[in-house]
Amino acid sequence: MVEKIHILDRDFALSISSEIIQEKVKAVADKLNKDYAGKNPVMVCILNGAFVFAADLVRYINTFQPEILFVRFASYDGVKSTGNVRELMGLNANLEGRDVIIVEDIVDTGTTMKNILPLFESKGASNIAICSFLLKPDKFKVDLNIDYVAMEIPNDFIVGYGLDYNGFGRNYRDIYKVLD
Ligand code: IMP
Ligand code: MG
Repeated sequence: MVEKIHILDRDFALSISSEIIQEKVKAVADKLNKDYAGKNPVMVCILNGAFVFAADLVRYINTFQPEILFVRFASYDGVKSTGNVRELMGLNANLEGRDVIIVEDIVDTGTTMKNILPLFESKGASNIAICSFLLKPDKFKVDLNIDYVAMEIPNDFIVGYGLDYNGFGRNYRDIYKVLD
């Protein structure tokens, strides 16, 4: 792995190695394996960022058979009021009576998650859990319980493992933090 990468106009330094990432993903998968054993939840991967995490996470699932769906929302500036999100790639599924596990890459302020939740609720899910790879607790400011978190991280802007800087950097196995 390289210690430093350059994306567009910024330099980034290695922050979390892929070995640590895999350990943490496996640990969170094991919690799901315990909590959902024998059930048939729908795991919904929030595109784009969560595609790498979701791909690793589902391959550690071995006590239940999840349905795996993908949804993509219009990215938004975090100023609008709740319940007003636009689906770019829709959730063409009836979630009536289902256990839903939302799979997200990172929860920062929590605004995005808070705004997409009503959509899942409106589709009749009986139980909705949020599983985020990363959480930045210092910036988290909404009234919401993030049920499963693989890692808590400081406020640095990071890329890699699905996370991007202006569309780039998602491909790295390791996570890099911005240098200023
Ligand atoms: P929130 O609405 O403040 O919780 O922001 C969540 C969204 O911001 C995530 O889904 C990411 O797309 C993006 N985001 C937050 N922090 C980072 C970061 O450090 N790197 C890349 N994207 C981030
Ligand atoms: Mg995201």
